[in-house]
Amino acid sequence: MMQQYMAVKEQNPDAILFYRLGDFYEMFFEDAKVASRELELTLTGRDCGLPQRAPMCGVPFHSAESYIARLIQKGYKVAICEQMEDPATAKGLVKRDVIRKITSGTLLESTMLDEKRNNFICAIQWDDTYGAGLCFCDISTGQTQAIEMFGKGLAGAVISELARFEPSEAVLSPKAMEQEEVLAFLTKRLSCQIERGEEADFTEEAGRQWMGKHFEDTPSLQEDIQGRPMLIGAVGGLLSYLHQTQKNDLRQINRLEVYTKAQFMGLDPAARRNLELCQVMRSGEKKGSLLWVLDHTRTAMGGRLLRQWLEKPLVNAAQIALRQNAVQALLGDRPRRDGVLEGLRGVFDLERLISRVVYGSANCRDLRSLWQTACAIPQVKENLEGFGGSQYLKELWEEIDCLEDVAGLIDRAISTEPPFSLREGNLLREGFDEKIDQLRDLLKGGKGTLAAIEQRERERTGIPKLKVSYNKVFGYYIEISKSYADKAPEDYTRRQTLTGSERFITPELKELESQMLSAGEQLTALEYQLFCKVRDKVAMQAHRIQRTARAIARLDALCSFALAAEKNGYVMPEVDYSGVLDIREGRHPVVEKMLEDQLFVPNDTYMDEGDDRVSIITGPNMAGKSTYMRQVALIVVMAQCGSFVPAKSAHVGICDQVFTRVGASDDLTRGQSTFMVEMSEVADILQKATHRSLLILDEIGRGTSTYDGMAIARAVLEYAASKKTLGAKTLFATHYHELSQLESQVSGVKNYNVVVKKRGDDITFLRKIVPGGADDSYGIQVAKLAGLPDSVIQRAKQVLESLLEQAPQQKAECRKKASQPEAPEGQMTLGAAMGEEVLEKLRKLEPDTLSPIEGLGLLYELCKLAKEC
Ligand SMILES: Nc1ncnc2c1ncn2[C@@H]1O[C@H](COP(=O)(O)OP(=O)(O)OP(=O)(O)O)[C@@H](O)[C@H]1O
Ligand SMILES: [Mg+2]
Repeated sequence: MMQQYMAVKEQNPDAILFYRLGDFYEMFFEDAKVASRELELTLTGRDCGLPQRAPMCGVPFHSAESYIARLIQKGYKVAICEQMEDPATAKGLVKRDVIRKITSGTLLESTMLDEKRNNFICAIQWDDTYGAGLCFCDISTGQTQAIEMFGKGLAGAVISELARFEPSEAVLSPKAMEQEEVLAFLTKRLSCQIERGEEADFTEEAGRQWMGKHFEDTPSLQEDIQGRPMLIGAVGGLLSYLHQTQKNDLRQINRLEVYTKAQFMGLDPAARRNLELCQVMRSGEKKGSLLWVLDHTRTAMGGRLLRQWLEKPLVNAAQIALRQNAVQALLGDRPRRDGVLEGLRGVFDLERLISRVVYGSANCRDLRSLWQTACAIPQVKENLEGFGGSQYLKELWEEIDCLEDVAGLIDRAISTEPPFSLREGNLLREGFDEKIDQLRDLLKGGKGTLAAIEQRERERTGIPKLKVSYNKVFGYYIEISKSYADKAPEDYTRRQTLTGSERFITPELKELESQMLSAGEQLTALEYQLFCKVRDKVAMQAHRIQRTARAIARLDALCSFALAAEKNGYVMPEVDYSGVLDIREGRHPVVEKMLEDQLFVPNDTYMDEGDDRVSIITGPNMAGKSTYMRQVALIVVMAQCGSFVPAKSAHVGICDQVFTRVGASDDLTRGQSTFMVEMSEVADILQKATHRSLLILDEIGRGTSTYDGMAIARAVLEYAASKKTLGAKTLFATHYHELSQLESQVSGVKNYNVVVKKRGDDITFLRKIVPGGADDSYGIQVAKLAGLPDSVIQRAKQVLESLLEQAPQQKAECRKKASQPEAPEGQMTLGAAMGEEVLEKLRKLEPDTLSPIEGLGLLYELCKLAKEC
């Protein structure tokens, strides 16, 4: 046995091997040591033919799931090695094999998954010439998506996609493994399990083969993958890995969604984090995020889809309008909507249920949940029918299938109170299968069968008092009173003569007896067999069920938008390609919910692609600048997701990307200095943004000395504002009040400030944004509000005064320089200044006085300088 163990282990060196021995999964050697440590199991030993006993520990097979879940969560992989034949009938050593390798990206068990969150595994193919292909799959739902990307900043683009899906496991082709930035993001940021794939699995040819096995070869799929070898390679790499680990035909994976970058709003990891779309920055929790405010979904599928929608805001006005109109229709008919919602309450996680059915791991309870869901669907569908005006809802109505046949089959077959295990019988209902009913009857002492035999024999023999009974000596026998004894037919064998009666046995009764002995085993085996048949029949309907599940998920997400809109007083924004952002009385969707004893003060926003491209926002600390800017970004994101928005009215010109850069101290450390992180993020934004982007820049330059910071802030502002360089809509919060001058110097820039009421030393926050620059930061007053000791406040005031006395001179000089407009082309730039330096050196040079070596040295120096120009 240990030899068999070693052979299996050798094939699965990277996983902890759960080796089935009777009712236990045992682990040996190093695996046992790891598992006993991680799972707090007692470590024992077992003779293994070696001088030392093999370390061993085990878990009961029926409770293995929770142990496996814990190991997976700690980053291990688990290989399940099962007995492949019945130990009772097997000759010699029981055959065993690994039936599945469980990794963090291949979970199917509901107990190991977060119900409102997808669990993606991804594969990446990479080629420096062609670009990168990414494929994401959630095997618990079957959802599979793929994208191909290329061009400048590829690593950044790939990272943005990874941030969207947050895969828990990634299979990388050898070339992809070399992408250090991507690898670092996966391991450090996403704590993703990494798997090195073989190049052979990532080729276009292999990819096409795998695709042929899973996806229907439609013209639209052909068109989608046409000329995308990297994408095909990634799909192939992923599918081949899944088959290697799952050893199952994975029929739930039957639809590939190919998408492109241009279909969705660009949101890089920094923007996702800062805007707190699905989780808050500090704790990573959902509470306090935009999703938390918008999620009123009733089903797990709806919850997962809503999260996906927020991760992928749209950029197509028509698609957005479809969602909006659906939300509006749902808002307009409360009674019907309530009917839909009531129906959704009864809907279980159809997507994951059907995946387990197809995979072959669903138990009776899963099928019963499916039945219950199918019973709830008609109520959803009936109520949905009445919504006029929304094309989208109409489509959903068409796609939702009431699945009566599936429900009927399950209800007829599956026990209404099924056990958890599939090996202990009681899986099927009475009346579903005759043989099962008979066996059950036999087990109960065979009362029904015996009564039937008795009745039949009475009729056959004409003996009215013939009785079928049982005793321990003879087993089953037929008893006839003496007076009728001679009427006993030939097949009766006499066994015993009593005073008033004779007892007989028959071959049928003997057969019955032996059947009873084996009935228990037979029954469980047959029940299991028939259950699998029913499950397979349901699996045949996977397409219909998956389609219905998708439609219900969308309906649920739309209802959630409607409920959030109704609850929080949102309005439908007008979304188009105008480039205008006109929000009246906008609010921050999350902060307004968090404020307990205060009212949120709404504010207007107006920006366009003309004179109002850039808003510089000044104002005291704590005034509400950051809140205001995020509010604008969130409203844009919400609008492009198809949600209504917190405002009195809103007109949102579609943005292709939203970028945020939030002040230095707000960031986590990442192995780089905070200022370095800030600057590289700004660099990234300026490179990637287009004039259709929305930039939220919160206190750029705060992390360095005042003048450097101010200089950088100004230069960045000028770059963002100028149509020649970028001309993107930009909200820029700053405490450098000097930047307010830009309004008069750079076109498209407008000043705003958050007003406060000042009385003596005290200030009151009014939270109102008004045009114009602020005069002061009131930092000391805010510090006082925060409870800094009085002596410190007094001292700060003294220091401030003396600083202000010295400053005017310096400030004036600085202003003079800064207020010089940005150097137009042809004027002195850094490069030109260095050119001057080269010339100056040449001018001073006296060639005759130089030795050849000195001359060569100088030449090198000049060349170096010239290259840097
Ligand atoms: N419009 C508003 N209505 C009500 N309360 C608000 C509003 N805006 C902000 N607040 C409250 O004020 C707090 C501070 O806001 P915020 O962080 O936006 O200030 P800030 O101007 O960015 O400050 P700093 O300059 O220190 O970064 C918020 O946490 C919120 O509780
Ligand atoms: Mg702030």
